[in-house]
Amino acid sequence: MEFQAGAVDPGEAQLVGAVGIGISLAPFALVNPAEAGYLRRVTDARQFQIGVLGSGKGSNLVALAEGCGSGQIPARIGLVLSDVAEAGILQRAREHNLPARFIPPGPYRTKLDEAAELAFVQALQAAQVDLIALAGFMRVLKGELLRAYEGRIVNIHPSLLPSFPGLEAWKQALAHGVKITGCTVHFVDAGVDSGPIIGQLPVPVLDTDTPESLHERIQVAEHELYCKCVAGIARGELQVHGRRVISC
Ligand code: GRF
Repeated sequence: MEFQAGAVDPGEAQLVGAVGIGISLAPFALVNPAEAGYLRRVTDARQFQIGVLGSGKGSNLVALAEGCGSGQIPARIGLVLSDVAEAGILQRAREHNLPARFIPPGPYRTKLDEAAELAFVQALQAAQVDLIALAGFMRVLKGELLRAYEGRIVNIHPSLLPSFPGLEAWKQALAHGVKITGCTVHFVDAGVDSGPIIGQLPVPVLDTDTPESLHERIQVAEHELYCKCVAGIARGELQVHGRRVISC
C-alpha cells in the first residue's frame, strides 16, 4: 500500500496514468492515479487548499495560518469549520480573514450526525479543499467525511502515539509518570488516533509540571510540528508505505 499525500489536477493525473509513469498514490490502498484527484505537484496553478476543523481555542489554526502566510507552507487555508458556535477557532479565523463557519453537529456528543457530516463535506468540497487538518476537533469521523477525504485528513495529538490516545493525553502522560511525552501528527483513519504517523516531537516532563504547564509546552511543540508536516504534504514530499510515512 503506497501513496503520496497531496493533490493534483485531475488532467495531470490522467496524463501520468496514461503514460504509466509516476507513483501510484492512493489513500491507504493502490488506486488508478486518474481516480486519485488529490495528487498534486507544487507547480499546479491552483494553490493547495487546507480546510481546518476545530472545536476549541484555535492555536494550531493560528500556527498553520502563519505558516501559510510566511511561505513555510505552500498553501492557503480555504475554510475553517467548527461544530461549536462559540469556539475560539472561529474567532481566530475571522481575525486572520479566513472564511469560517459553524455547522451544527446534530444530537450526538462524540460524532456528527449524517446530515451534519454531509454538510461538512459539501462545505469543504465547495471550497475545493485538498487536505483537512483537524485541530482539536472533538468528534470522531466515521461516515461520509472520512470516505470523501480518505487519506487526506491529518490530526495533531498531544502525546507520542501510540502512547496515550484519546482525551487529555497530557494528563494521561503525567498520571502515568512518563519522563518524555510530546506530540504527533498522523493521518486519520476510522480508529481513535490510530492512523499512520507523519511526525513527532518530544517534550520532557518536568518534576514541577502540572497538567496545564505540560500542555502549554506540548502546544508550543505542536505548532512547530503541524506546520512542518502540513508543509511536507502540500509539497507532495510524503509517501505512505503501509503504516510508515516516508519523506521523498
Ligand atoms: C491540541 O492540544 C491538539 O493536540 C488536540 O487539541 C488541542 C487543540 O488546541 N487535538 P488548539 O485549539 O489548536 O489550541
